[in-house]
Amino acid sequence: MSAGRLPGIDSLGDLSGKRVLVRADLNVPLDGDTITDDGRIRASVPTLRRLLDAGAQIVVAAHLGRPKGAPDPAYSLASVARRLGELLGRNVTFVDSHDPEAAKDDVVLLENVRFDAGETAKDEAHRAGFAAKLADGLDCYVDDAFGAVHRRHASVYDVAKILPHAAGDLVARETDVLAQLTESPRRPYVVVLGGSKVSDKLAVIDHLLPRVDGLLVGGGMCFTFLAALGHQVGRSLLEPDQIDRCRTFLDSGKVALPVDVVVAEAVANDAATSVVPVDAIPPDMMGLDIGPASVAAFSDRLQGARTVFWNGPMGVFELAPFAAGTLGVASAIAALPDALTVVGGGDSAAAVRTLGIDESRFGHISTGGGASLEYLEGKELPGLAVLAEGEGRAG
Ligand code: 3PG
Repeated sequence: MSAGRLPGIDSLGDLSGKRVLVRADLNVPLDGDTITDDGRIRASVPTLRRLLDAGAQIVVAAHLGRPKGAPDPAYSLASVARRLGELLGRNVTFVDSHDPEAAKDDVVLLENVRFDAGETAKDEAHRAGFAAKLADGLDCYVDDAFGAVHRRHASVYDVAKILPHAAGDLVARETDVLAQLTESPRRPYVVVLGGSKVSDKLAVIDHLLPRVDGLLVGGGMCFTFLAALGHQVGRSLLEPDQIDRCRTFLDSGKVALPVDVVVAEAVANDAATSVVPVDAIPPDMMGLDIGPASVAAFSDRLQGARTVFWNGPMGVFELAPFAAGTLGVASAIAALPDALTVVGGGDSAAAVRTLGIDESRFGHISTGGGASLEYLEGKELPGLAVLAEGEGRAG
């Protein structure tokens, strides 16, 4: 589904004096109440600014983490409200829930929508009831929460059934780039996958393998592939029930695996590490990063690529001893001279920022991890499908 098929903000007509419900993805990592990566908040600012510049009042709905359908201070958006105010350079009124009669301020941020069980309810009527509360007194809806478009949630899906709606500029840009990957990628097209669990990536591997020219696999998930080749992987992450599936993927001839790994006895900053070939992983050790020879081999495979999609770190990049693989592969992708390079959200986007790689060296850094993977799996994403169901004018 490409952005061309989604109605954009222009389709809503004159927004001056209109009250607009905006769904944003402000789901940022927190350490206590300190935001450790504000990338998603920054990514949401241009659309909010555009709406404010057009004279709209905005009510922003967003989630944080996965609270259990009831208020939980650990998942409050209070810190996000402060940071959003700083980035917008405006006062952000932070409220527990939407009240059409109360705050008429220019920018209102609602507390975590997942504090209401109606947001994520499987029961449609329950969800629709919460969506109606969110939409109460508002004129139209803009979905700019690309990271949540794969969720059939009240603030993502059901509100668009109630209000005239449009895709925000971030959603438009994200879908535009991902459409280039699915519809007409320039070749060679190479996908780099990492992250811990191969079972999370089966669907995307299935869908992508016939479409790509090469698939480079690192991260925790590579050990199930290495086991499929017959290697002993010691105490590394392993999903034994996926070994056969990995073997069929290897039969495609398109999958490249690490040739060496960084091993340690523990996932710790002060752990003693060594680099071993993948056929010599000691039984009492676990592989926590790809090794330097693998970085070199993956970099070689990337040379000449015209389209690259990368999702998932190559190792436990949050800890310095296991960050070199992710840094090396990310740097190799960033250095490609003539390629559309797309970082698929989540941990990989955080890795780019945490490891200090210049974001502008990538063609696009998605704000959606799960959403971008599901898009590439070819699934229909509820939040996009509902936006395509007819344009709305705010009147
Ligand atoms: C994400 O972090 O990928 C999005 O914000 C969606 O969050 P969720 O996986 O909890 O729905």
